[in-house]
Amino acid sequence: MRDQAECLRNLVRQRESEGLHKSPLKEIKIYTVASGKGGVGKTNVVVNTAIALQKKGYRVMILDADLGLANVDVVLGIYPKVTLRDVMFDGKKLRDAVVRGPGGIRIIPGGSGMLEMTKLNSNSQKALMNQFSEIDDIDILLIDTGAGISMNQLSFITFAQEVILVTTPEPTAITDVYSVMKIISELKIDRKIKLIVNKASSDKMGKLTYAKLKKTAKSFLNIELEYLGYVADDSRVGNSVMKQVPFIINYPTCLASQCIDNIAEGITGFSAKGAKITTMSEVYNRLVKIFG
Ligand SMILES: Nc1ncnc2c1ncn2[C@@H]1O[C@H](COP(=O)(O)OP(=O)(O)OP(=O)(O)O)[C@@H](O)[C@H]1O
Ligand SMILES: [Mg+2]
Repeated sequence: MRDQAECLRNLVRQRESEGLHKSPLKEIKIYTVASGKGGVGKTNVVVNTAIALQKKGYRVMILDADLGLANVDVVLGIYPKVTLRDVMFDGKKLRDAVVRGPGGIRIIPGGSGMLEMTKLNSNSQKALMNQFSEIDDIDILLIDTGAGISMNQLSFITFAQEVILVTTPEPTAITDVYSVMKIISELKIDRKIKLIVNKASSDKMGKLTYAKLKKTAKSFLNIELEYLGYVADDSRVGNSVMKQVPFIINYPTCLASQCIDNIAEGITGFSAKGAKITTMSEVYNRLVKIFG
């Protein structure tokens, strides 16, 4: 694990010195959404925030990068016919694997196919990269990852410009998210780390949870944790999961939806650190380098 972490660190340094910046006008902002404990609400936060951002006029794509059981499609009730695996090994087109979701968001159902990507020979990689570069109309890429501190989650953390950690106010979730921050601090990468407190009983509870984590992160890890906001513990969330319709569509004015709107507002006020990404082929290149 330590060796792999060192390897990731070197990759990030190398990439950031490459200076991928091409155009000051167009940029794809990449956010990896991660957590320590599973089931804290990452997928729901990603899907509903994506829809809120798309409503604001951004063109949003979700990369479902949970290498275990992909679950963005389950929350959305969308069952992709073509997977990334089919694109790589079955001659299917990437654009056919990209699924349209509510509000016009787009989803790449990555799943276990993400790892296979690195096993392609150079010709196939080139062909896949060309397909990635055909997707040239994205402003924001949100990456939904699996839970826990796996190398995969860490890879996606190094891949993104910004990391959004999701926790709940529960002590176990807080401890686990702290462990993720600790590993990030050991990677010594210059990433903004932001926190969302999900399933909070109130705004106050969200801020209290953040305050605790901010203090320990600063004292022990020298990490400046920023606050993106809270999402209310709201029965309509579970309700919407059952109906496979995102709550921001089903109940656009409920408290949880208002919280998501605030989070979307906070996300768009960000300025990225490190190299700027301007095309989907650069996104692809970054992915291959990290998993290769
Ligand atoms: N704000 C909320 N209020 C009430 N219930 C919630 C809220 N957010 C999530 N939930 C409940 O928690 C469940 C798990 O959420 P979700 O699938 O988004 O978590 P996850 O972090 O993506 O899980 P995994 O780690 O397994 O991918 C949901 O099905 C829903 O019932
Ligand atoms: Mg999930």
